[in-house]
Amino acid sequence: MKRTERSPVRDAVAACLAAVATIALLAALSPAAARAGEKEDAQAAKLARGAYLVTISGCHHCHTPLRMGPKGPERDMSRMLSGHPESVPLPDPPGPAGPWNAHIAAPSTAFAGPFGVSIAPNLTPDPETGLQNWSEERFFRAMRNGQHNGGWRPILPPMPWSDIGKMTDEDLSALWAYLRSIPPVKNQVPDSRPAPPPPAK
Ligand code: HEC
Repeated sequence: MKRTERSPVRDAVAACLAAVATIALLAALSPAAARAGEKEDAQAAKLARGAYLVTISGCHHCHTPLRMGPKGPERDMSRMLSGHPESVPLPDPPGPAGPWNAHIAAPSTAFAGPFGVSIAPNLTPDPETGLQNWSEERFFRAMRNGQHNGGWRPILPPMPWSDIGKMTDEDLSALWAYLRSIPPVKNQVPDSRPAPPPPAK
């Protein structure tokens, strides 16, 4: 059997070449790895900004239902931003009485007033009952123009679209990205019922 001769010089050269190749590979990979890391950091920062904006703009007030807790009404975060609970039916509201011309349904997700009955929709990305089919562009249009569902009627009070729509493009985009990232909740919210237009004179 022929034994391969080992030469210390050849071994040293081979080790050097391997080291050079490793360094070259790392140098080629690290900018890509750094870029990927930066992209992840930017996305995480965008989602954090979106979460912050959702909180300070009060979206939870109307889109996250209240439930009765030991200290009184509290937000049911297991149904975060899923709108008016389908389990709470909404019969016709009592009529206006003097200056008390508006009513809020118990989970604080449905409102009645001279505008009709407006019901906070499910903002989670649930494929059947949430905003899964919405595009960012559609979200921007709704918040900037106040047109429900692409435009067939105005978005009803008390949804503060005209304030929310004044956010910068960057903030509105962060808010939207965050809404896409939250847990989907299956909850079929009934349609709002706008008041009929006043009779023509
Ligand atoms: C004071 C209550 C209230 C607050 C605060 C509120 N909403 Fe709404 N929102 C509603 C109601 C009620 C509707 C249903 C309006 C309708 O059907 O015309 C609605 C509708 C919507 C819609 C659907 C619009 C469409 O095309 O019909 C989106 C999207 C939405 N809200 C997002 C948000 C976001 C995001 C925030 C926070 C930045 C927010 N809302 C804060 C009450 C509120």
